[in-house]
Amino acid sequence: MSTPPLASGPEGPDALRPLLDTVLDALDSGRRARGGPLPAGGPDAVAARVRAATGDLLPPHGDPDALRTLVHTLTEGSADPAHPLCAAHLHCPPLAVATAADLAVSALNPSLDSWDQAPAASELETLVTRALAAEIYGPTPADALVTTGGTESNQLALLLARETHGATLRLVHGANAHHSLPRAAWLLGLPAPVVVPTPTGTLDPAALDDALATLPGPRTAVVVAATAGTTDTGRIDPLPDIAALCRTHGARLHIDAAYGGGLLFSDRHRSALTGLDAAHTVTLDLHKLGWQPVAAGLLAVRDTTDLTALRHRADYLNADDDTEAGLPDLLGRSLRTTRRPDILKIAVTLKTLGRDGLGTLVDQVCHRAHELAALIRAHPHLELHAPPTISTVLFRPTGATDTTVAETRRRLLTDGSAVLGRTRIDGRLWLKTTLLNPHTRPDDLAALLTLVEGNTSR
Ligand SMILES: Cc1ncc(COP(=O)(O)O)c(C=O)c1O
Repeated sequence: MSTPPLASGPEGPDALRPLLDTVLDALDSGRRARGGPLPAGGPDAVAARVRAATGDLLPPHGDPDALRTLVHTLTEGSADPAHPLCAAHLHCPPLAVATAADLAVSALNPSLDSWDQAPAASELETLVTRALAAEIYGPTPADALVTTGGTESNQLALLLARETHGATLRLVHGANAHHSLPRAAWLLGLPAPVVVPTPTGTLDPAALDDALATLPGPRTAVVVAATAGTTDTGRIDPLPDIAALCRTHGARLHIDAAYGGGLLFSDRHRSALTGLDAAHTVTLDLHKLGWQPVAAGLLAVRDTTDLTALRHRADYLNADDDTEAGLPDLLGRSLRTTRRPDILKIAVTLKTLGRDGLGTLVDQVCHRAHELAALIRAHPHLELHAPPTISTVLFRPTGATDTTVAETRRRLLTDGSAVLGRTRIDGRLWLKTTLLNPHTRPDDLAALLTLVEGNTSR
């Protein structure tokens, strides 16, 4: 076998072009073979198909068809968020333009741990992170770090808080918060978090006030984590009230806007995030309401001096004399070392669509959620949990037991006809739809409800 071509360099584009044709053909053939939002047959059938297609993974001699075979197999066996009936999770269909930009990143392979591995990418990251931080904080010198998603952003937020306030820092969060927050507290060796019950789905300011007033120890340092767009229902905690309480009690505030942060792009919905700028740190995640391929997380930081906690020296990457001579020091912008510029796809998306283009996508999915809620409300055999806040709609077959709800969902998953999520609220199990596909039409929503009804055993 001759030496395989590289993706960049003088031969890169010509080598990639036919391979991209192969990939695009296999994406198409795999999607047609699947025929729906999810492969049929459940885990055993999918595993058997993957094993049969994979064969010997490190054969003695290479297989020139491996690209076609494996891309086809992966596509056939994928849950496709671009299918209108794949609507369970905060799992968005990526924009074509963002995915195309990501290909350039794979070809060029810049690494953001030192300027000499990523000269332009490091400048682009500076520009985009400052622009996104300014979306939250206005024209202050705020900044943002690029992360692998909401989980890493929440971890970093707690790390920065701990480095400012010390290792006895207490996390206070609602029961509606994402599980990555208490997990981050565990990871960072912080005391066990105080969990404020959220029976109405959002963090109640009176309950938070009580929790803050009754914390053990007179001078306990506290970080409150609020949520703008909860994972289960998309609800937004009362941010201005929570911010006011944090000021009164001298607590630091982190807002997890992994889901709701995308509302910033919409003139219609932006006001739902009033109070976001009061947070010391804000989690954003553009692989949710931002239509990016994974990964596209950010942590916005109001006071950039907080970032000094991440400063780190490794002589081969940011020697003092290089930094003094003007080479940007990138190591303090992440806990990772090698780091791909996920910022390119974000920059390309922001510039290609503009504020109105992104805002329109946000408005479309929020509008679809209201349409779905209206269909459910009017349906004789379905119960709606509540009007949607963002694009999440919970419902259940009227009078069904939790077992029936769970079985309905699994039946749809197993025959590959629809991907719905599940969540337990008020002691009952609900089917969850998270609408993130701006191409979904009202007919698709009606078809989804027909499928649920037809697969509910009574
Ligand atoms: C509110 C919230 N925060 C954080 C996360 C974690 O994000 P990621 O899966 O990108 O790590 C999620 C994921 O759904 C989320 O809903």
